Amino acid sequence: MVNVAVLGYGTVGSGVVEVLNTNKDIIRQKAGEELKVKYVLDLREFEGDPVSEILVHDYDVILKDKDVKIIAEAMGGEEPAYTFTKNALLAGKSVCTSNKELVAKHGAELLEIAKKNNANYFFEASVGGGIPIIRPLNQCLVADEITEISGILNGTTNYILTEMSEKGSAFEDVLKDAQDKGYAERNPEADVEGYDACRKIAILTSLVTGAQVDFEDIHTEGITRITDADFKYAKAMKASVKLLGRSKRIDGKFYSMVAPFLVKADNPLYSVNGVFNGILVHGNMVDDVMFYGQGAGKCPTASAVVSDVVDAAKNLGKNVPVVWSKNKSELGKFEECKSRFFVRMKDKGLDDDQMTTIIEAFGDVLYVKAEGVVDELAFITKEIKEAEFAEQIKRFEDVYSVIRVDF
Ligand code: NDP
Ligand code: HSE
Repeated sequence: MVNVAVLGYGTVGSGVVEVLNTNKDIIRQKAGEELKVKYVLDLREFEGDPVSEILVHDYDVILKDKDVKIIAEAMGGEEPAYTFTKNALLAGKSVCTSNKELVAKHGAELLEIAKKNNANYFFEASVGGGIPIIRPLNQCLVADEITEISGILNGTTNYILTEMSEKGSAFEDVLKDAQDKGYAERNPEADVEGYDACRKIAILTSLVTGAQVDFEDIHTEGITRITDADFKYAKAMKASVKLLGRSKRIDGKFYSMVAPFLVKADNPLYSVNGVFNGILVHGNMVDDVMFYGQGAGKCPTASAVVSDVVDAAKNLGKNVPVVWSKNKSELGKFEECKSRFFVRMKDKGLDDDQMTTIIEAFGDVLYVKAEGVVDELAFITKEIKEAEFAEQIKRFEDVYSVIRVDF
């Protein structure tokens, strides 16, 4: 029997306990031994819940118990999760986590500590919720040079965009719904401003390059400026608006960003809706591979954490190597990235200057009309560099919105 402790009995932590209980027999068979939850750590009491019998409030109880071999960390946040994880690994205990904030910031260091102490730091649930993506990148796709990762990496925002687009729901209402369903971060700004997707693309790019990609270096935009009119134009173009995290290798450097994009039906990410995530990986040998599934939520995420717990149980006292050094991986300059841009601005009517300036700024553009939207000019530019677009768009007043175009 292998004893496990769960840190945090919220959405994911309670899911971990549920998965381990519900699939006890299957898990025993796969792990080769029974996995028993010996402790659950939380700040709160859970009266009437059987977890009360194993609930502790002092982490030292877990740390000092030599029988606890594996810890599932589902508290979230940087501290005390960082200190708890580090101390567990130093004590030779393996840690499995869904905490992408911690993984993005301290992943390389914690992997190094795990290695030195013949333990493991696993983080399958940190990207894509229930979707297997970390292990595929570390194991199944290692024969390839990965040249691109492009994905819908945040369930909350994809849920919001889908509900707004399909039902015309209000942003705040859908966000509240996503929070009630347990999809959103404690501070949902991390979701809607794109920070969560940014940490996830930083983790994936770190794994691909084998070195530290700092999320602070990644240009990030969220979905808070997307409006009903944008969805009307998207429909007119037979496109949908998706928050994408992407990293593209060009001339040996990765160029990464997180931003809303207009995508069309020939892109597999177009039909990834609701809380689902989709991650497209391109390798120079395997070509395109797509990973799809629920990107957030209790049981899908807990399923990924428990798969790590099983892996940790199968590798007790033995480190499974993950290549992710603390050396910084330099990203290509965002200003050099090229995109087409969909621009909406106030229509100045018979003002010829406006048209002339558009041509001067962007050359020939493709004008777009949407039913029910009036007094606006909307167009798509040809592909230009971010820096050039930023410079040229300054020439216009009353710009309502700018969305990058992926077609
Ligand atoms: P919750 O807020 O639902 O759960 C966190 C739990 O940990 C709460 O019960 C909290 O208690 C407890 N906790 C916080 N600090 C401490 C502490 N110092 N000691 C003991 N317990 C503590 O969060 P989630 O379960 O949603 O998320 C957990 C982690 O998983 C986060 O990193 C999140 O980003 C990640 N994640 C979440 C997914 C989801 O769908 N929800 C999906 C994938 C990853 P209290 O409430 O009293 O503060
Ligand atoms: N808040 C995150 C999301 C949880 O919505 O994707 C999963 O990482």
